[in-house]
Amino acid sequence: MSVERKLPWVVKYRPRKIDDVVNQEEAKKLFMAWIDSWLRGRPEKKAALIYGPPGSGKTSLVEAVALEKGLELVEMNASDYRRSTDIERIAKTTSRVGSLLNVKKKIILLDEVDGISATADKGALDSILDLIEKTQHPVVLVANDPWDPKLRDLREVCLMIEFKRLTKTEVKKVLRDICAKEKLTCEEEAVDFIAERAEGDLRSAINDLEAVGEGFGKVTSALAKSLLRARDRELNAFDVVRRILIAKYAWQAREVSNQTDLAPDELILWIHENIPNQAQDPEDLWRAYESLSKADIYLSRIIKTGSWDLLVYAADMMTAGVALSIRNPQYKFKWVKYSFPERIKLLSKTREVRQIREDLAKLLVSHLKCSTSLIKYDVIPFLKIIFDNNPEYAARLALGLNLSDSMIKYLSDKNGDKIVALVEKLRQESRKPVPVQRGGPQEEKQQKKTTGEEKKRNEKSSKGLEGFFKK
Ligand SMILES: Nc1ncnc2c1ncn2[C@@H]1O[C@H](COP(=O)(O)OP(=O)(O)OP(=O)(O)O)[C@@H](O)[C@H]1O
Ligand SMILES: [Mg+2]
Repeated sequence: MSVERKLPWVVKYRPRKIDDVVNQEEAKKLFMAWIDSWLRGRPEKKAALIYGPPGSGKTSLVEAVALEKGLELVEMNASDYRRSTDIERIAKTTSRVGSLLNVKKKIILLDEVDGISATADKGALDSILDLIEKTQHPVVLVANDPWDPKLRDLREVCLMIEFKRLTKTEVKKVLRDICAKEKLTCEEEAVDFIAERAEGDLRSAINDLEAVGEGFGKVTSALAKSLLRARDRELNAFDVVRRILIAKYAWQAREVSNQTDLAPDELILWIHENIPNQAQDPEDLWRAYESLSKADIYLSRIIKTGSWDLLVYAADMMTAGVALSIRNPQYKFKWVKYSFPERIKLLSKTREVRQIREDLAKLLVSHLKCSTSLIKYDVIPFLKIIFDNNPEYAARLALGLNLSDSMIKYLSDKNGDKIVALVEKLRQESRKPVPVQRGGPQEEKQQKKTTGEEKKRNEKSSKGLEGFFKK
């Protein structure tokens, strides 16, 4: 159950039965008849090409059919097509009829065939044709746009099955069902807003619903509007990078920098992350990074000196400079998947830890009266060593400095819990009154100790680290 709860909703509510696939009655009928003809052993066409808009249930239907009919699903998607040898390997294993003991039929699913590039993945299309000719199992191809000229030969050997764009009413119905299953209160206006945005793409509608419902436990129209609009901007970053990297002329790339909300230091990270996705030619890569590194130098000078007039040069280098560096036509206009910058991901993952470090540095600055960077680079590392190796001493320091539990745990992964417990113990002990014998030798000793120089030092050490570092 707990695993199920963590699954993205598009996976959790994926159709498991053919009946769960909504709104595609005609396509379902055609597809089922074709699968039955295979199971009877006499298919008219050996392959089917399912096509239609994204998020309309194409992959889901094939998976549901395999599940319901007990067929094994052999799945490949665009990235596997690069090497025709992979397709040939599948072709070999699937061209044999199963032995008597191994009679289980398979469905061979080649998803996203329109992602194949006619030039870069040369040979892949021929291998698929070859696979269809030899196969002893149903081959299903899936594409968004089947009318691409490169798919012409494939169209001829396939049964064409069209998936329709889902209607808004259907999308809303599915969303309401999910809300009910998740026990979410859900305003009709919010469902309407999400369905409208999705334009028939149920995957994107379910993702939007999850983004709103998961965090807030309810789906109101105000939440949906504010959250999803913010998310749009994030999605736009992918478009922005794509437009820069595939720009043919400098002005095209330059124009994009005016059309984005991304700050220059964010945009440079997006470009940095995605150059190798688009530019695979080593010379292009070299030129593009050369240009980006110049942009980086300008940006850091702006930060250091505040000379904002340098920004135009930085922007030029990271947009037009990078765009014109990628020249090899084989990769320049190829549709590739972009990635979210690792650095931004890492920064958001480590935000909490960085905040603790900042707070700790501030606290130490107030004790030691030196710069924050000295604390971060010269003091905290030593404290970490102490906290890792001498928990008792660390606990006394922590108490003196009044460190929070999270700061203690930040200073020592290994001993964090132990030191927190020790601090608590010390705190309780310090609250207990110390019995002192009147006029006895003990009191005399104590009086002796707390005179003159010693007294001053004790006062200091009770303030915290000053005493410790001067020792
Ligand atoms: N007709 C449908 N009936 C029920 N659920 C659907 C339908 N279409 C889409 N979904 C939901 O959206 C998700 C994505 O659907 P699916 O992967 O089948 O889309 P697709 O048509 O293959 O899209 P793409 O072209 O992007 O691959 C599914 O997990 C399912 O939750
Ligand atoms: Mg799909």
